[in-house]
Amino acid sequence: MEPNVTVVILAAGLGTRMKSKQAKVLHQAGGLSLIEHVVNSASRIAPANRIFAVVGHQAERVRQTLDGRGIGFVEQIEQKGTGHALAMCREQVEAFGGLLVVLYGDCPLLSAETIAELVRIQSESNAAATVITTELEDPTGYGRIVRDADGNVCLIVEQKAATPEQLAIREINSGIYCFNSELLWKHIDAITPDNPAKEYYLTDIVELFRCAGHHVGIHRLADPGEVLGINTRVELAEVDAIFRQRKVRQLMLEGVTIRKPETVTIDAAVRVGIDTVIEPFAQILGATEIGEDCRIGASCVIQDSRIEAGVDILPFTCIGTSHIESGASIGPYARLRMQNHVAAGAHIGNFVELKKTRMGAGAKAGHLAYLGDSVIGENVNIGAGTITCNYDGIKKHATQIGAGAFVGSNSTLVAPVEIGAGSYIAAGSVITDPVPADSLALGRAREVVKPEWARKRREQKRDGC
Ligand code: UD1
Ligand code: MG
Repeated sequence: MEPNVTVVILAAGLGTRMKSKQAKVLHQAGGLSLIEHVVNSASRIAPANRIFAVVGHQAERVRQTLDGRGIGFVEQIEQKGTGHALAMCREQVEAFGGLLVVLYGDCPLLSAETIAELVRIQSESNAAATVITTELEDPTGYGRIVRDADGNVCLIVEQKAATPEQLAIREINSGIYCFNSELLWKHIDAITPDNPAKEYYLTDIVELFRCAGHHVGIHRLADPGEVLGINTRVELAEVDAIFRQRKVRQLMLEGVTIRKPETVTIDAAVRVGIDTVIEPFAQILGATEIGEDCRIGASCVIQDSRIEAGVDILPFTCIGTSHIESGASIGPYARLRMQNHVAAGAHIGNFVELKKTRMGAGAKAGHLAYLGDSVIGENVNIGAGTITCNYDGIKKHATQIGAGAFVGSNSTLVAPVEIGAGSYIAAGSVITDPVPADSLALGRAREVVKPEWARKRREQKRDGC
């Protein structure tokens, strides 16, 4: 962390070109909102009490997204331009002195290393500010860097105000600066909205510095990738792809096998142990943690879950906020909706849905079952088609099944109900009363067989009766 640096993140704009009801900085790439990426990088440069976000559109939601990080907020109710946005921070920021870095909330690829380099260049110079620039094939829309005969920056001109010669310049303003804060606050009030857009352009400060006898330095990046701001959903998808590539690459280098990595979606905070294999189109999201030697089958979606070592998750399985212990096998086509705990070696097969359910060690539900609000003991066998009726239309109720019980196929367990350890439920039963341990419960009509009935019926039909 650099000493004496304050960071201001400009994030008040709506982002008209996103064509969205949602503020641009709340859109997500790589599993985090754009502003969270920027705050993450800023947090490696300055302590939280010296990071400020200027918020405007959906200010409350932006604050909530960044809740708990300890950063400050400045509200810019009317968005009158980047110069106005920064000027709004004066009261909270000026007293810190030192260096002031300006970042944009819609520029999530900028790395902490690049910001640190910008700060280093500024701190070792006597410039009033240093700006990050880069050269673009197509600079349309960006402010252009106008240099004098000696190569020094003399002004930054916005697209709308540029002359045809200035429009031909391909070196652009990234909008990322490091200021000598004393000089910034001394001159910022001289910025006027005297331009076609009637906005207070922060870029005007360059000329103001020049007139006052100060110069502005440049940190020119050879690769423009980091400073590309997001303006449209097309750019959002491009940036998302970059974050995804970075994550799968990092995991592969750490010892995870990822088949067809270009199809896999893994959020930044996900952790995966070595020798785990992730198959195509898997999505591993949120704060998921996966142990060593697991298999995550094709097209699985796993959110905010903990998967211990050696777990086999077969294709097309969806798991949310659940904990799976080692050696369990789940799927294919299983759904573990929320707050489930599957103990070691348990098996959940195809078309089984679990909700708020604890499966004991070695328990099995091989096919076609719904187990909700249930506690299922060790080595229980749940037959195909078993349903816990956990909802009476008003409230949810619990089902408890003791260790070693055998629940026959197509059983309907009407909760609240308790099935004792080691008992048997006959196939096709509707169970409404408690079943004591080691007993057999039958809850169905007895089978009636009428010999010869079908043959006689056929004969009657043939004789025309
Ligand atoms: C700005 C720069 C331009 C640069 C480009 C790089 C100015 C005048 N122009 O243009 O030179 O090439 O960025 O991407 O600075 N914001 C506020 N309050 C406001 C206005 C903007 O917080 O009143 C925030 C926006 O939310 C955004 C950032 O500032 O995060 C940049 O604003 P934007 O309108 O995108 O500026 P550009 O026109 O892209
Ligand atoms: Mg922009």
